[in-house]
Order: sequence, then C-alpha cells, then structure tokens
Amino acid sequence: MMMFVVISVMRPRVIVNCAMSPDGKIAGTDRRQLRISSLEDMDRVRRMRSGCQAILVGAGTILADDPHLSVKGMPYESQPLRVVLDPRGKVPETSLVLDQRARTLMVTNEECVRQYPGAETARLGKGKIDLPALLRLLEERGVSTLLVEGGGETIFSFFQAGMVDLYSVYVGDYIIGGREAPSPVDGDGFRPGEHVPLRLVSVERLGGGVHLTYEVVKDG
Ligand SMILES: NC(=O)c1ccc[n+]([C@@H]2O[C@H](COP(=O)([O-])OP(=O)(O)OC[C@H]3O[C@@H](n4cnc5c(N)ncnc54)[C@H](OP(=O)(O)O)[C@@H]3O)[C@@H](O)[C@H]2O)c1
Repeated sequence: MMMFVVISVMRPRVIVNCAMSPDGKIAGTDRRQLRISSLEDMDRVRRMRSGCQAILVGAGTILADDPHLSVKGMPYESQPLRVVLDPRGKVPETSLVLDQRARTLMVTNEECVRQYPGAETARLGKGKIDLPALLRLLEERGVSTLLVEGGGETIFSFFQAGMVDLYSVYVGDYIIGGREAPSPVDGDGFRPGEHVPLRLVSVERLGGGVHLTYEVVKDG
C-alpha cells in the first residue's frame, strides 16, 4: 500500500486590512488617498499594526499615497518590517517608506537591478513576484503575522495565491462612486467557481462606520 506523507510548510499568517466606502471603493477615480476610517478605526489599525511583524503594500500605494507604514510612537527596534512589492523598481528614492523610522524590505523581480538607499532588497520571481518565496523569506526572518494593507492589485494577488487567512475591512460612511475607482480586490477578478469563500467572524461599529472581519474558508 502506498503511503503519502503531507508536509505542511509553515508560513506567516496573512491578514488583509483595508478601508472602503459603502459603495466598495478604497480611493477616488484619481486614486489619491481619502480618509475613509473613523478616528476609532484609525486607533484599531494602529493596534493591529503593532501586533504584526511586517506590513506590506504594492508600489501603486506608495506612488499614490506615499505612506510611512510605521506605527506612531513605537521605537525603531519594535517597528514592524515595512515590505513593498516593487517588481520593476518604480518607487522613488524620496518615498517616506524609505525613511529611517523603521526597516524596509523592497521586493523586486529577478530582472530588476534597482537598489534603494537605506533599504534591503529581495529579488524574487520572474516578472511577477513569487509570493510563496516571499512568505518563506519572511518566515525565516521571524515574521509570524504579515499585514497586507493594499492596494487592490496587491490584495488580489495574495487572494489569487491562496495566501490570505483573515480579511478585515472597515466600511466608512460616505459614497465615493466612479467606475474607475479602485476596490479592495482588483486585479483580473475571479471567475465563477473560483470565488473566495469567507466566514464572517465579527462585526463592530466604530464611529460612523463598521468593521467587519472574515476568515477565509480553506478547502478540507
Ligand atoms: N483605503 C485603503 O485601505 C487603501 C489602502 C491602500 C491603498 N489604497 C488605494 O489603492 C490604490 C492603489 O492600489 P493599486 O491596486 O493601484 O496598487 P497596489 O496594489 O498598491 O500596487 C500595485 C503594484 O504592485 C505590484 N504588485 C502587486 N502584486 C504583485 C505581484 N504579486 N507580483 C508583482 N508585482 C506586484 C505591481 O507593480 P508594477 O506595476 O510595477 O508591476 C502592481 O502594479 C490607491 O488609490 C490607494 O489610495 C487604499
């Protein structure tokens, strides 16, 4: 009789967190950052960031919003690692994510030769970034929880790779509108039969909006 041994590869737990309008937009049609979170939600996000060892966004978010991706009031040594998916090296040297508030890991593809001042670079994958390889690298660095904060293309690529464990979304209190406005999960979308099943685990009113947490339902 043949015996199969299933080896489960450890990887960090992946939490996606974002804020959207009640009509499902994370920014306006100009893709500029909008304040969707209430003060109460901003406090929740600060606590959530503090509990993670790494925070990740895509190059599009850096170009649109220029975030620090750091936790206010936290010393340098305790700050989560900032991780940016920049396959083709588009992120400017002056971006705030490259400042000295926290460590930064820039992730490019193998073809890219770009260097970033003051940041470490990992080159993973041909064309697209190899997300399983990135998670293995983060695991080796002691990251047990990775927070993916956007934008829609990046969140889609994590869902597509089957690597999201928890989906946390704050739904604000005004309509943004616009067919070109980004949503939490953009990319090419999923075809019928490929949709990602979720299980609602909590609902919390925070200021004028509501925070929803879903677990991703895995096969088996
Ligand atoms: N409300 C919120 O919570 C929130 C949070 C964050 C962002 N946002 C908004 O989201 C918008 C930006 O979203 P976005 O979808 O345009 O940008 P994004 O997801 O931040 O970045 C997309 C880029 O990241 C790279 N990328 C992502 N996944 C990759 C993978 N698996 N392999 C290789 N490269 C990968 C690609 O870079 P290349 O193009 O170089 O290939 C891709 O074009 C902005 O409007 C921002 O304000 C809102």
